[in-house]
Formats: sequence, C-alpha cells, structure tokens
Amino acid sequence: MGFYICSNCGYGSASWIGKCPDCNQWNSLVLQRDEKDKRKEKTQKLTFKPLTEVPSLVKGRLQTGLFEFDRVLGGGFVSGEIVLLTGEPGVGKSTLILQSLSNLKTLYISGEEAAEQVKDRAERLNIQLENFFFSDTLQVEGIIEGAREIREKIDVIVIDSVQTVYSKEVEGQPGSITQLKETAAKLIRFAKENKIPIIVIGHVTKDGDIAGPKTLEHMVDAVINFEGERVSHFRVLRAQKNRFGSTDEIGIFEMAGRGLREVNDPLAFLEDTTGHVPGKAIVGSMEGRRPLFFEIQVLASPSILTMPRRVVKGVDYSKVLLLLAVIRKHLNLPLHSYDIYVNVVGGVEIKSPAADLGIVASLISSIKNLPLPPKSIFVGEVGLLGEVRQVYGEKKIVSEAKRLALPQVFSSETVKSLKELQKQLGEKGKKAIATPKGIVFSE
Ligand code: TYD
Ligand code: MG
Repeated sequence: MGFYICSNCGYGSASWIGKCPDCNQWNSLVLQRDEKDKRKEKTQKLTFKPLTEVPSLVKGRLQTGLFEFDRVLGGGFVSGEIVLLTGEPGVGKSTLILQSLSNLKTLYISGEEAAEQVKDRAERLNIQLENFFFSDTLQVEGIIEGAREIREKIDVIVIDSVQTVYSKEVEGQPGSITQLKETAAKLIRFAKENKIPIIVIGHVTKDGDIAGPKTLEHMVDAVINFEGERVSHFRVLRAQKNRFGSTDEIGIFEMAGRGLREVNDPLAFLEDTTGHVPGKAIVGSMEGRRPLFFEIQVLASPSILTMPRRVVKGVDYSKVLLLLAVIRKHLNLPLHSYDIYVNVVGGVEIKSPAADLGIVASLISSIKNLPLPPKSIFVGEVGLLGEVRQVYGEKKIVSEAKRLALPQVFSSETVKSLKELQKQLGEKGKKAIATPKGIVFSE
C-alpha cells in the first residue's frame, strides 16, 4: 500500500487526494516510495565502541573572524557541524556571513543574489575577496558533487538560502517541506562525511513561519537566530539550539554604514544614564555570561477607553499583563484608568525576568510623574505575591553596575516587595495614594 505526502506542507494520507486538506494546495500529494523495499533489509547486528575511543569533535574549532559570532557558536565551528542561521529578510544574515567568513576559505552558494551583487557588497564592506568562491548552482546533488571535488580547498560552505536549493530526487517547489527536508538531509550527510561545517541560511517571518525552516530545527546541530528591528541598528545573534555550546550566549552587533560592528560595551543600549525623565528605568540582566543594561520606558496616560490600551514592545506581552495584575492587587493603583505603553530602547528584546522590577518601577514613575533616582538600576523578578525575587547572576550585575558608575541598585537585596519599592520611590518625592477617585499625590 502506498502512502501520500503533501509536498507543500508535509501532510500525510493513505489515499491520494486532489486538494491537501491541511494547506489547501491542489495536486500536491505525492506517492512515497514503497515501504516494502525497506522491509527487505537484512538484520543489522548491533555494533558498539567505548565512548573514550571516539575522537573528540570539539577539539580544533574553526574560528570565524567575528568574536561575537564565535561566542554564540560556542567558540567556533566544530568540524562537520551544520548550522541553521535564521532571521527575517533584510536583518543582515548575508552581511554577517560575508564579514565573519572572510578569513576562512568559503564556498558561498547563493540563490538570493547574483555574483556581482555579492561582490559589490563585499567590496563595500572592505572584505578580502580572495577567500570566497561563489556559485549559483542550486541543485543539491550538483552542489555536493562539486564540493566534494574541491573539499581540500575550502574550510566552510554557505547555502544562502535553504529556500532556494532543491533536490532532483523529490517533488515540490524549492522551499516546500519535502524539498527542505531532503536537501537538508543530503547536506547534513555530506557535512558529516567530509568533516566540513555548513551554514544554511533560512528566512523566517516574525511569527516563526512554521512550515518553513523551523521544520529543520531538529535535524541541524545549531539553530542561530539573527534578530533586530529594521528601525534600530542593533542586531542580536542568539542560539536557540546548540549541540556544541551553550544557548545562553548572545552576540551583539550594530549595523553601520560599513556593515556590522561588534558591540562589547554593556551600556551600549543606553542612550543616557543621567536623564531625569518620568517613566524610564535602567534594568540589568545577564545575557549569557555577561551583564547588560537596558532602558525600559513606560508611558501611562489617562484613558477614556473602557478597555484601556496595553502596547508592549521588547518584553513579553503576557508578562506585562501579569505584572499589571500584580501591581493592581498589591499596590492598589487604578491601572484600569490608564493606557499603558511599554518599550525597550534600541529595538532589542529582553527575555530575562530580571527586567520585572524595572518595568514596575518605571510604571510607578510614569503614573506619579516623578523621575526615578538618577544613576539607579533595577534588577529583580517579581512574583505573583508581589515579592521581589533574586535572579540569575544578580551579584555579577550589581558589581558591574557599580563599576560602571550606576551606584544605586534596587534588587531583591534592597527591596523585598513591590510595596517596599513603592515606599522607597515615594520617599524621594511625593507619595502616590490610590483613592476611589483615582490617584492623589501627597505633599
Ligand atoms: P542583508 O545581509 O542583505 O540581509 P539578509 O541577508 O538577512 O536578507 O542586509 C540587508 C540590510 O542591511 C540592508 O537593508 C541594508 C543593511 N546594510 C547596512 O546598513 N550596511 C551595510 O554595510 C550593509 C552591507 C547592509
Ligand atoms: Mg541575504
């Protein structure tokens, strides 16, 4: 009996159907090769060896020209590693690759841009061209055959992008699930057999594009995402999965006129640490093994809506809703009469709960219309009971803040609860008191 798979979305069916019930594509179901062929296979007896005799992969990592990239990889490429580099179109993936691989002998396969375009960009970026071989061959069988012949001359292969290459052995358009899986499987086998790292670039859209490169995540060794808003020049490289390194590390870059610049200043995301403006707080959090500081801005403005507006950028939306609920319960602030906007400066995203305390502080500051103490930072997770919890790496963040001349620290050491926070902030100026008619400020 045959089995039919949709070449567009991967839907399976025991009989042929004209229109895929899952993705509504017409004529996309194809018969899979007969399962019986596989059953004829002879029994393969178990073979094994002690792990101590297995050669170590991690020795002799291949370093790129960019320290921030190596940091995310876990110290460079491991031989035979396959890395999926994802990101939205235009975020800077091709630029990152050109800049980071200019010291390695690179076979650059592009179905996205013509050789002239790639060369033009490389020249603008001031990159040595000697190390790059360019190819626009997109058939994976051909790529593999050619790459095997020049294996000795190259250190790394880049496929830009996986949505443009295809295998001649399966049905479907380049970029469809069946094609993605087949090409990735072939490339992985080639990488392992020839001990050569391959970087596969995949475009994803904001909502993750489930039917796209995400389906390859379990097949590859590392999934590295390049994030950033088009309006901001900061770019963050983050490993979502890494078989050969930690997923905690992030790499930070700035997109400038001459390409990406590595950022290693922990205060890079702050525009100004001294300003006395209500609604702004500096938060510290650990990103990988280093503390970084971000500016949170909250605007609370009186609302005329029955369902006041909540607009959030840079932190998790449902986290903010949770914090608002905690604040309502424990600080008794009439949040329902305010529209609330939350933003992180620089177009970056904070995933750590360490920012909780700063979000609450800047909200109190905005409602009270009083700036937070100058040169202060906030670090702490806020619990459902209104308590302030210690976060990972808190000591390190605090000592780094002191070193960077941000001496006043609000953390689980100095504030135990939101009530205490409100009190401490109130002492510096007027106190906000909730009354049935709204907020009043004491003298
Ligand atoms: P690109 O690497 O082509 O993105 P991707 O491969 O992810 O689609 O980069 C695209 C953007 O980067 C482009 O909109 C312009 C910007 N850019 C700069 O700002 N400075 C530069 O030096 C370069 C090369 C690109
Ligand atoms: Mg590109």
